[in-house]
Amino acid sequence: MTTLDRVQTHTLEDLVTERWSCRAYRDGSVPHDTIVQLLELAQKAPSWCNTQPWEVIVTEGEGTERFRRALIAHASDRDSTPEPDIPIPAKYAGVHLERRRESGWQLYEAVGIARGDREASAQQALKNFELFGAPHAAIITIDTSLGAYAALDTGVYVANFLLAAHSFGLAAIPQAALALYSPFIRDYFAIADDRSVLLGISFGYPDQDHPANSYRTNRAGLEQVVRWVND
Ligand SMILES: Cc1cc2nc3c(=O)[nH]c(=O)nc-3n(C[C@H](O)[C@H](O)[C@H](O)COP(=O)(O)O)c2cc1C
Repeated sequence: MTTLDRVQTHTLEDLVTERWSCRAYRDGSVPHDTIVQLLELAQKAPSWCNTQPWEVIVTEGEGTERFRRALIAHASDRDSTPEPDIPIPAKYAGVHLERRRESGWQLYEAVGIARGDREASAQQALKNFELFGAPHAAIITIDTSLGAYAALDTGVYVANFLLAAHSFGLAAIPQAALALYSPFIRDYFAIADDRSVLLGISFGYPDQDHPANSYRTNRAGLEQVVRWVND
């Protein structure tokens, strides 16, 4: 597929409307050249002073399988405690808690987990560390010294990555969960001390028939997020 074909078949509206976080994948690696094209598109992201503070480690083939095995073993170990490089929210409240709950319940309902079934929800959460069965992971780090704006710049990069993946007929999921075990990831991939693990993105070909991919999340109406000022 050429760039022109891709633009003709996917408008931005299609891409942002159709993209979703994919939590089950078909077997089959993405061709290396396609991943390179995807990364080239993501790389077009703007950043403050054009610093491009992101760096990406991409796994393929046995590189993914070995990482998956090591990560799930680490996450399942009772002695492993979350130590994210970037602090995670201490708590969710108000509308944020409501939205978080709604999307969680949508997932549980789709995969048949009853509300309050802690064991089943814990098992579902562990699938993060199996990379949801994806054939590839992208581990994204930022230059720690650039602070919050490096994370903001890299969020733009992540959005480009997700939309680019969708434009190639792939699916992906951003996963802050992978950054919970930042020291493990840093050690595993020999990441320099001056970088922070921001998140991972698992990606590949979607299993469209899997229940985890059967629902779509909602969005707040503009009246909830936009304040107009005109006098
Ligand atoms: C920065 C970021 C981190 C996320 N981390 C996780 C994660 O660790 N595990 C997960 O299952 N989903 C994760 N998600 C996916 C969100 O749950 C998802 O984007 C949100 O519910 C909206 O659904 P959609 O992506 O299908 O539109 C993350 C999304 C973002 C943007």
